[in-house]
Amino acid sequence: MISVFGSLVGPEELEEIRTSIENQWMGLGPKVKQFEEDFATRLGLPSLVMVDSGSNALYLALKAMNLPRGSEVILPAFTWIACAQAVALNGLKPVFCDVDLETQNVTAETISAQMSDKTSAVMIVHYAGKPVEMAKIMALGVPVLEDAAHAVDSKIGERYCGGIGAVGCYSFDAVKNLATPEGGGVTSSDPAILERARRLRYCGIAKSGFEAATNKARWWEYQIDDFCPKLLPNDIVASIGLAQLRKLDTCQATRRRIWEQYQGEFENVSWLARPVDAAPGEQHSYFTYNIRVVNGKRDELARHLLDKGIYTTLRYHPLHYYPIYESNLKLPMSEQLNEEALCIPLHPRLSSADVETIVAAIRGFNG
Ligand SMILES: Cc1ncc(COP(=O)(O)O)c(C=O)c1O
Repeated sequence: MISVFGSLVGPEELEEIRTSIENQWMGLGPKVKQFEEDFATRLGLPSLVMVDSGSNALYLALKAMNLPRGSEVILPAFTWIACAQAVALNGLKPVFCDVDLETQNVTAETISAQMSDKTSAVMIVHYAGKPVEMAKIMALGVPVLEDAAHAVDSKIGERYCGGIGAVGCYSFDAVKNLATPEGGGVTSSDPAILERARRLRYCGIAKSGFEAATNKARWWEYQIDDFCPKLLPNDIVASIGLAQLRKLDTCQATRRRIWEQYQGEFENVSWLARPVDAAPGEQHSYFTYNIRVVNGKRDELARHLLDKGIYTTLRYHPLHYYPIYESNLKLPMSEQLNEEALCIPLHPRLSSADVETIVAAIRGFNG
């Protein structure tokens, strides 16, 4: 079976893990610190607070932003459930907005349609790695949290996505452009938010162990001034992250090559709408290749590909459809995408033969 997502891990990751094992240190330690520094340097970020998942990065970022309880956070309906869960778990109200059909991204217009005097923040997602129109959205005057889970290598001008809005979050899960078993990170241009995120991620322990002890005779005492679950990363995950960071350019070049091949091969397929390329001055991360099947036969295509050993999927089922969010909204573009969109395989482990197989199977589909 050709997988829809995948990562390239091997001897480089094993070698990094080996040194942590030899040093008898697996938990939060020097590798996490090094990953935080190297990642921040590569992306030109002030700092990174690494955590145990992208989902928890969103949760922590919102908590560190200290938004008024009960206030509203606008986010796309066409995104992963963790985005809305992070809002709700912080005692805030998720308010879903629509996305643009072509880019699958939120726009200043779709956000404005849902703004009210209760809006305290906007969470945007650079869907598939295509940068969102940040300048227009930031001009709305509400703090913007960038979910850059798909956009580790996306840029607008000279600035990497995640480092443009008030706060940015990354995911390093096993299928992301920078893959680890599970991992995430928070960044911000506001040192107070960063400091709060760093303090909160370990059960809200302000300072731990010896560092915290006011009475140095009892160095095991620590201060706690907020509620937070344990969201700590570890040195084994960070070891893999460090090796992945060194490979990122190579993996990105492969993703880009496959993307460009698909764009060429599918140009004249009448029933298929191709994803939108980066605009001038932008850089795409090529996280997923998301087509739209515009003749009503999306499910048939997915079955046809599965029968040929090619796994595809949909990212995402619109969030306003889930009853726990009690939303009576009609969001026509997200709903249309739910019927038309399909992610086809795009990742650095695909061989040229895999890509040929995928192209032939799609072009051979009787749309
Ligand atoms: C847009 C988006 N945000 C957040 C996440 C959560 O990241 P993680 O899987 O690392 O928890 C994902 C995961 O796929 C995602 O697609």
